[in-house]
Amino acid sequence: MTDINEAAQRIIVALDVDHEKEAYDLVKLLSPPISYYKVGMRLYTACGPRVIAGLKGLGARVFLDLKFHDIPNTVASTVEVVTRLGVDMFNIHLSGGKNMVKAAVEAAAKSAEELGKTKTLVLGVTVLTSLNEKMLRDEAGVGKKLEQHVVDLSLMGKESGINGVVASAREAALIRKECGEEFLIVSPGVRPLWAASGDQQRVFTPRQAMEAGADFMVIGRPIIKHRSPREALEMILSEIANNNSGRQ
Ligand code: C5P
Repeated sequence: MTDINEAAQRIIVALDVDHEKEAYDLVKLLSPPISYYKVGMRLYTACGPRVIAGLKGLGARVFLDLKFHDIPNTVASTVEVVTRLGVDMFNIHLSGGKNMVKAAVEAAAKSAEELGKTKTLVLGVTVLTSLNEKMLRDEAGVGKKLEQHVVDLSLMGKESGINGVVASAREAALIRKECGEEFLIVSPGVRPLWAASGDQQRVFTPRQAMEAGADFMVIGRPIIKHRSPREALEMILSEIANNNSGRQ
């Protein structure tokens, strides 16, 4: 039996909406027990940095999911801005290479020190959960096995100082083994038994994701598109508590 509150602390709700009010209404509906929310490119593009301040004002912890991928100097100077916004976690694409990853980590540490804040957690995106091995080979030109590619990217990220990765729960156990207990694993592509997988190719149930070693799971549409997001969250939490993990 898993404690419901402990499970809720491991869920990050993806606020993939267009309006500030919709985002704040979801936070008011789901907190407590949810405390972590993800602001992705859709909400950020629609509302800008104001939405971060608004969410922080509601007591939310914020994961800024803008998946930075650019030359090291551009990423580093953007990370300084991210630190000033006060987000708790942000991410970069590990496929941007070691120099870019290191520049992001160093900028996060330097600007936190200057501002007298705790360093923002830096996560690396390994392989998007909407991609499968065939797509990775045929469309991205990566000939390695998907799992190997994910592990290699994770190890490179760890060596470069990131706090953890965004990866499918399918690769969580392998990443945990290779990168150790302290390395954070945040898994999207999580679907409760009753939800459709949509464009996600490598889906796991919340319980399976936790058992595979994910520290956090990102859940968007199954909660935010449900006619009652609160009811959807409660169904997810009871599915986890009842250990009902088998996808048939
Ligand atoms: O609606 P759904 O539960 O699929 O939402 C998953 C969220 O996680 C989306 O906001 C998506 O952009 C994000 N994400 C992902 N795969 C990654 C990184 C982030 O699905 N590798």
